[in-house]
Amino acid sequence: MPSIPDLPPSTTLEGRSVLVTGSNVGLGYSAALLSLQLGASPVYLAVRTPAKGDKARETLLADPVVKKNNPNAVVKVYQLDMSTWDGVTSFASKFIADRKAAGEGLDVAMLNAGIINMAYEVAPTGNEAVLQVNHLSTALLSLLLLPLLESSTTPAHTARLMIVTSGTHKRTSLKANPPEDFNYILSLNDKKTFGAMDRYGLGKLLIIFFLRELCEKVTSDKIIINDVCPGMIKTELNRNAPFWAWPVIWAMQLGSNPVEKGAACYVAAVASVGKESHGLWYQYMRLTPYAPVVTDEEGKKLQKRIWNETLGVLDKVVPGIGSGI
Ligand SMILES: NC(=O)c1ccc[n+]([C@@H]2O[C@H](COP(=O)([O-])OP(=O)(O)OC[C@H]3O[C@@H](n4cnc5c(N)ncnc54)[C@H](OP(=O)(O)O)[C@@H]3O)[C@@H](O)[C@H]2O)c1
Repeated sequence: MPSIPDLPPSTTLEGRSVLVTGSNVGLGYSAALLSLQLGASPVYLAVRTPAKGDKARETLLADPVVKKNNPNAVVKVYQLDMSTWDGVTSFASKFIADRKAAGEGLDVAMLNAGIINMAYEVAPTGNEAVLQVNHLSTALLSLLLLPLLESSTTPAHTARLMIVTSGTHKRTSLKANPPEDFNYILSLNDKKTFGAMDRYGLGKLLIIFFLRELCEKVTSDKIIINDVCPGMIKTELNRNAPFWAWPVIWAMQLGSNPVEKGAACYVAAVASVGKESHGLWYQYMRLTPYAPVVTDEEGKKLQKRIWNETLGVLDKVVPGIGSGI
């Protein structure tokens, strides 16, 4: 596994407000910590369980580097459950209303929350759970945050939207545009289509298509949008894996980079690279080619189809969500 280089020493998030979803543990927690160590404030932890967020807040603020470099740092906790529609819309409404009430913007959004499931599971929305959390809810949250992000762009700083994806998008069952006579995204709710690793990679591939189409509609002078994969990192991601899968997981994790390096990839994507990264994939701290299925001629058609089908689902949740983008 390539070793992740150190952040350029000049990297700073001084005075930037940063939202990190899924930040009570793992890469999200480490990204919140590194952001604070580099001067970010306020940092917003959007977590499924507020008590876990409160605990994370305490340890973040007790970190000696944060205390030294960013003694007045503000960390706020918000509840965000991405397995339900209401969990996403309620979070976004409260978060945006709070910023408006305080006259604040949002400089950086890191959409990190994600899951891998070894077995087929249906989310409360009725959609397969990985499709729901890693693609549909992430897409919805991106759209809901756009106006706040765009209004926070100034001549000195362009707001940032970063989505965490994965190299596993290169190894999925989606190789080319499926026949047009059915809704591909909704077809993934059929249990017969589910395979653990395939579904994880597929969720990431779908959100990459969505992000790239979004980048054609939202220019980089308004918001710089990119996606990041830190490579294999030991976190709690495989917490639900059955005992028989652990030897494989341990073998895959041999030689993996530490979680702090993964967090550095996140920070680099929002602080070290600029407009040149709009709509692109940042892996191991380098702009990296996507799988051909994303960028070839078929991919360009597929990108529009995934966007349209995703908007079709989201429009039923928030009518008109796609209009005006
Ligand atoms: N670790 C890797 O090797 C690797 C590689 C490439 C990409 N990634 C991506 O990195 C991101 C972070 O993963 P991680 O490795 O740090 O895993 P992790 O330690 O399991 O953290 C995942 C975070 O997402 C949150 N989350 C899960 N379901 C949620 C939901 N329904 N609503 C809101 N939050 C939810 C979790 O909250 P709870 O603690 O409450 O469950 C947790 O905070 C994911 O998008 C993952 O796909 C990871």
